[in-house]
Amino acid sequence: MEIIFRSVRDSAMSAFSFQRTCAGSVRERSLGPRAGCRPSIAFAATMCYAATLLSNSCGAEPDHSGIRFLGSVSCAATACHGGSGEERRTGGEYGIWLQRDPHARAQSILLDRRSQQMGKQLGIAAVQNSERCTECHATDGPTVPEIDRSTLLSFGVGCESCHGPAERWIEPHKRLEWNNPAVWSDEQKAALGYRLTKDPLVRAETCAGCHIGGPGRDMNHDLIAAGHPRLSFEFSSYHARLPKHWGRSEDLRRNSPVLEARLWLVGQAASLDTSLALLEERARNPANPWPEFSEYACAKCHHQLAASPKRARDATISSAYTWNSWHQALAPFLSESLELLEPGHSEQLRSSLAALRNEMELLEPSRTVVQERIAVVRTTLRTLTREGRDYPYDVPQVRQLSLRLAREGKSLIARDWDSSAQLFLGLSAMHYAEAEATGQYGALKSPYRAEMTTALKTMQRQLGTRDGIAARQLGTEGFKDRVFKDLSRSLSDVEILLSQPDRK
Ligand code: HEC
Ligand code: HEC
Ligand code: HEC
Ligand code: HEC
Repeated sequence: MEIIFRSVRDSAMSAFSFQRTCAGSVRERSLGPRAGCRPSIAFAATMCYAATLLSNSCGAEPDHSGIRFLGSVSCAATACHGGSGEERRTGGEYGIWLQRDPHARAQSILLDRRSQQMGKQLGIAAVQNSERCTECHATDGPTVPEIDRSTLLSFGVGCESCHGPAERWIEPHKRLEWNNPAVWSDEQKAALGYRLTKDPLVRAETCAGCHIGGPGRDMNHDLIAAGHPRLSFEFSSYHARLPKHWGRSEDLRRNSPVLEARLWLVGQAASLDTSLALLEERARNPANPWPEFSEYACAKCHHQLAASPKRARDATISSAYTWNSWHQALAPFLSESLELLEPGHSEQLRSSLAALRNEMELLEPSRTVVQERIAVVRTTLRTLTREGRDYPYDVPQVRQLSLRLAREGKSLIARDWDSSAQLFLGLSAMHYAEAEATGQYGALKSPYRAEMTTALKTMQRQLGTRDGIAARQLGTEGFKDRVFKDLSRSLSDVEILLSQPDRK
């Protein structure tokens, strides 16, 4: 599963890791409305600017509680979490994190050549200490006197980035009664700054805080143009790739036998909500550029990246922007699924998102209107998420959901690469959830499972081919030309397999 997800993720990110063509030719960024800087075909290739305003454009610190950090070292005592690094053995969490988790290296990555280059482009002298980077690449915030900020940062994304600043909960959590809900309720734990990561929704929101962003952690077009990889987060696949320092069976027992499917659904809702919260902040804070380019389909402005030079020459920027579909592609499907639980909200989510899209795609979207419309979407979404928190519960529901998704899939594939990749990730999550719950995980013994794996791998390959990547850059138009037919065929195979009533 890790492998199947990795290469789609790589495709999603490499689709826009293109060469800088104008390093050195630096021009001041215009302060006026961005409309004046709408690029012509050659525009992006010939113009750069120094994003000196960046330091003003971030909002408050991610952790608002004021509770202080202790640093990962305080978790590492042998008797606590620094025992031998054996997998799945309570006590070995620190070793697993240190040796295998990419987060342990997240700050040292800021010292490499790419990061230094980004720093130069952005006018940041020491990226490894700059909040602009460390809010996501490290645990950052107020510390207790025993530890200074640079030591805290040196642990990268440490224990407290996900489990919460430990100043107030470290002592109580060492006692046995910490695990007794009659003594310590979830609310009491949370009030101490402890994050309830056992809850899939809290977990998804924790990851999304960095992998999508939020106030104070903005992966905007300035950073992307300086060379940062575009973030394409999808919770279930990232979760699958994280080396686990906790027990799988415990997680399954607590959260659902079809855990992957639940993580996927919860992740969809949390990601959409987080991306809207980020957009809200972009619209609210006048120090942020508006409209924010990274909200839009890159291909609209970056036609010169087209694989076909002729197409690039002929292309014109005909209309206004196209709002990115990555975090919304499956929203209609999501709401329909949750509609089973809360009738009436599906239409509300659909129409409020459409209203937001209309405003976002105007040539000059209004900051105020955008904020108002986001508020409506988020309210509906939150109701749905609350109601559907524990959904799906079992194998029959996952079967129903995946068949629905495969049917809906045709219209997703017709739309663009992002929607197709999200479709693939959703179908995969449900495939693995079902396989795990029916004892077919890992070995994938049954012929049905083997066939399904092959069909999904074919989809994955098609998304990752050169044509697939080019299609992402070209946007919808190129997508239809190139990979649409192939993907539709694979999707039909998946649908036929899913329609077998007695499958195992
Ligand atoms: C909004 C959070 C956020 C901010 C702000 C941020 N990053 Fe990142 N960065 C990430 C995430 C998440 C990844 C991993 C992306 C992935 O693999 O999906 C990443 C990846 C990277 C990578 C590639 C790492 C690799 O292993 O290939 C580099 C280099 C990098 N960031 C440097 C920087 C620098 C320099 C800054 C500040 C100028 C910065 N980042 C700011 C979240 C952020
Ligand atoms: C990227 C986020 C992240 C980081 C970093 C992280 N954890 Fe976790 N941790 C989780 C998640 C998610 C779980 C699973 C849900 C749960 O049990 O709370 C978890 C579970 C745990 C558990 C519970 C194990 C169990 O089976 O009950 C312990 C203990 C733990 N982590 C300790 C640590 C320590 C110590 C560090 C630092 C060395 C650390 N974690 C770093 C996300 C993280
Ligand atoms: C404090 C910010 C932060 C949080 C919280 C966080 N991450 Fe990350 N994550 C990062 C950064 C930064 C990187 C890039 C590190 C690198 O490439 O060295 C990263 C890398 C990763 C990678 C490796 C990506 C790759 O390039 O292969 C995975 C998988 C991942 N994170 C999953 C998760 C999951 C799942 C959670 C929640 C349980 C989570 N992360 C929480 C910041 C964060
Ligand atoms: C509304 C138009 C617009 C959109 C949408 C847009 N960009 Fe840009 N992009 C520009 C302009 C203008 C520049 C040149 C000025 C600058 O660096 O900001 C640029 C520059 C860049 C550069 C630096 C290129 C170089 O040669 O230095 C990269 C990389 C980039 N954009 C990536 C992206 C990605 C990835 C997306 C989609 C997430 C995107 N852009 C969306 C207008 C846009």
